[in-house]
Amino acid sequence: MDNRPIGVFDSGLGGLTAVKALRRLLPGEDIVYFGDTGRIPYGTRSRETIIKYADQDIRFLQTFDVKMIVVACGTVSSMLNVTPGFQVNVPYTGVLVPAAQAACVLSSGGKIGVIGTQATIRSGEFGRIIRGIRPEAQVFGNACPLLVPIVEAGLVQPDNPIAREAVAMYLAPLKEAGIDTLVLGCTHYPLLYDVINAYLDYQVTLVDSGSEVARYVRGYLASHNLLNSQSSGGSFDFYVSDQVDGFIKTAEFFLGEAISQQVSQVDIDRI
Ligand code: DGL
Repeated sequence: MDNRPIGVFDSGLGGLTAVKALRRLLPGEDIVYFGDTGRIPYGTRSRETIIKYADQDIRFLQTFDVKMIVVACGTVSSMLNVTPGFQVNVPYTGVLVPAAQAACVLSSGGKIGVIGTQATIRSGEFGRIIRGIRPEAQVFGNACPLLVPIVEAGLVQPDNPIAREAVAMYLAPLKEAGIDTLVLGCTHYPLLYDVINAYLDYQVTLVDSGSEVARYVRGYLASHNLLNSQSSGGSFDFYVSDQVDGFIKTAEFFLGEAISQQVSQVDIDRI
């Protein structure tokens, strides 16, 4: 047993998709979340900048003596394997492998769509991992840069016209290609789950990278005897690098619970 917290980070709200799933699957775990809202988006930046930010985010979480770090950001996750020398001295996981594994299991015909940030799609990592597991799979990728600002602006209600229009624009070629499974390869996108599902006429299996990484974390902690000794009542604390107000509003809408007492602002450049 290990009663230290789990550290989770993303550039903003997206990693909450992992937090929500972690709280459902592991209600006894304490969670410390960092959302780099002052420097979002990551997905349009160079690899060097993304890795520099990720390194600071991880060092911040390590000040809480976390037992594991969840890189709840597809963009950072897609850089980790291809960055020699990148080291974290606690167990950690990104979202790519858990999400790719789920897609390979769930896909009926091997026609798998992947949506993510520009950096994630440009890296080609999802395709490489999926074909490593299921060599005959056909992978159709598309970068969706407008979806992150739409989520951060809180435009996530299923009937929001801007969200619907943007989703339609980005998913049209994948729908046309006849995908049977779609990986939401940026953790922000599951906040638009209903909009995406509706656009695809509820005919495509959606893989939520936040939920899949949470499942992976549960398995990892259980198999390494690192679970918290309590089975419920885990705490959660949120830190952001910009003002807390906008974050709280959308986070509460998505998580379905009040969090304003647990959110603080941190100066990430001082870490
Ligand atoms: N949620 C992130 C991801 O999964 C980052 C989005 C961004 O900062 O561009 O890719």
